[in-house]
Amino acid sequence: MGEEDRVIRVEDVYKVYVTGSVATWALRGVSLSVRRGAFVSIMGPSGSGKTTLLNLVGLLDRPTKGKVFIDGVDTSRLGDRELAEFRSRKIGFVFQTFNLVNRLTVLENIELPLVARGLPREERRRMVVKALLRVGGELSWLSKRPNQLSGGQQQRVAIARAIVGSPSIVLADEPTGNLDTASARVVVNTFLELNKLGQTIVVITHNPEVANCSQVIHVLRDGRIVAVLEPDPGRCLIYR
Ligand SMILES: Nc1ncnc2c1ncn2[C@@H]1O[C@H](COP(=O)(O)OP(=O)(O)O)[C@@H](O)[C@H]1O
Ligand SMILES: [Mg+2]
Repeated sequence: MGEEDRVIRVEDVYKVYVTGSVATWALRGVSLSVRRGAFVSIMGPSGSGKTTLLNLVGLLDRPTKGKVFIDGVDTSRLGDRELAEFRSRKIGFVFQTFNLVNRLTVLENIELPLVARGLPREERRRMVVKALLRVGGELSWLSKRPNQLSGGQQQRVAIARAIVGSPSIVLADEPTGNLDTASARVVVNTFLELNKLGQTIVVITHNPEVANCSQVIHVLRDGRIVAVLEPDPGRCLIYR
């Protein structure tokens, strides 16, 4: 794999959390490469370090030791403000609990990542509409509040917010964890459609039927990658 093909490169990363006198090694030497355009999943028991790893790849936190390269950039060389700016251009996040703001409309929620970019309002709206349609959303949602939509619809709005700024990577932490099977199918289908258009996606999931829709499964245990598995597409939840 050529250097330019890797959108993510995690190099021997360790993370320790210190709470009072207790040190927890959440990651103990994780290395991982993700090629541009890949759809990757991460599985592992609760407490194995999945969210910690996603937070490091998403530049929300820094490793105790080791390096994270995004689009070829050694992110350890960026100061806090540069890192935040880099993150806002490169990474889109999707969470289990959607994390939408109910006092804002759907339009305003999707627009949020664009506000700091100083784009004209018309341009922002055009990008919002494009993102919403790309995730299979409807224009009638734009003026609604998130809590007027179903869980599956809210997660599609959250995915629209994640992609509106054309990030290099979409990171999703248990995106179907709060959804029934029908809604989970819609969300996974949305990821597959985005991936077909070239979007790089990393999904943490407990659900093997979600992981089996991806192209490679990394299994974490006790802060280490213990297996890299080939998914079984016949057991992907949208094909059954
Ligand atoms: N902010 C934190 N402070 C202290 N310990 C933490 C913190 N975040 C996670 N941990 C610990 O690190 C380990 C890995 O957690 P996490 O990455 O959330 O795992 P997962 O997402 O796989 O459930 C766990 O032992 C957890 O308790
Ligand atoms: Mg977690």
